[in-house]
Amino acid sequence: MSPEKDNAREELLRRNYAEIAQLAGELAHEIRNPLSTISLNLGVLSEDIEEGNSPRDLRMKRRVETISQECDHLEQILSDFLRFTTGMELETQPYELSKVVEQFIESQRLEAENRNIEISPHLASDLPKVLLDPHQFRQVLLNLTLNAMQAMSEGGVLEFQTFQQAEYVVLQIIDNGKGISKLAQKKIFDLFYSTKPAGSGLGLPTVRKIIEAHHGFIQCESEPGRGTKFSIFLPAQNAG
Ligand SMILES: Nc1ncnc2c1ncn2[C@@H]1O[C@H](COP(=O)(O)OP(=O)(O)OP(=O)(O)O)[C@@H](O)[C@H]1O
Ligand SMILES: [Mg+2]
Repeated sequence: MSPEKDNAREELLRRNYAEIAQLAGELAHEIRNPLSTISLNLGVLSEDIEEGNSPRDLRMKRRVETISQECDHLEQILSDFLRFTTGMELETQPYELSKVVEQFIESQRLEAENRNIEISPHLASDLPKVLLDPHQFRQVLLNLTLNAMQAMSEGGVLEFQTFQQAEYVVLQIIDNGKGISKLAQKKIFDLFYSTKPAGSGLGLPTVRKIIEAHHGFIQCESEPGRGTKFSIFLPAQNAG
């Protein structure tokens, strides 16, 4: 195909994608409103049956509880999805990646302890700065850490490493959890791919989108039964 045709095709695909993303976002908004009405009414309903103790009342309470959990799950999917489809406008500043990671680790200590997970940081202190949107980047750290913790249901070791490689500052998050099969590794960044009962499958697509918006990239290496390593590459800022 000629380069002009290639460009025209690419432009068409880009526009189609933008249109579908917009429609999907609008649909998610539309679903959210009736869903919150359902949740509100369920809340009122459960207050109404709060008092009763007959077997029928108890059955009702359990069912209302189940419906309400499913509503929360749907709301979570919708808000993750809306975050994913809305354009990503970054507000970046130069940061020392190791410091950002160190602060994040502090915020996770309690959660890790509760899950019997030891956090092991190896953070270099002499790295060039990187341009980061701290709010968005926190989402990246949260998603990857939660995935790692969920993969180590019996506890384990979670490692955070930073170092420089060529023109990139690299962060690796390494767990010794259940790992990911070769076949599944091909799908983990696909929208809605999840192996968890309550997973929306938007965690890793969101992570990748945020990292790419920072002009970086992410790689995954994993061995089933041994663990998983995610490596994030961010362009190093020139010194000075
Ligand atoms: N560290 C990990 N160890 C093992 N499997 C993982 C790891 N990280 C991701 N996965 C696999 O990749 C899948 C997709 O991850 P992703 O974060 O996108 O969605 P999720 O965790 O299932 O749901 P959520 O949207 O709530 O994050 C997971 O369901 C899991 O099978
Ligand atoms: Mg996840």
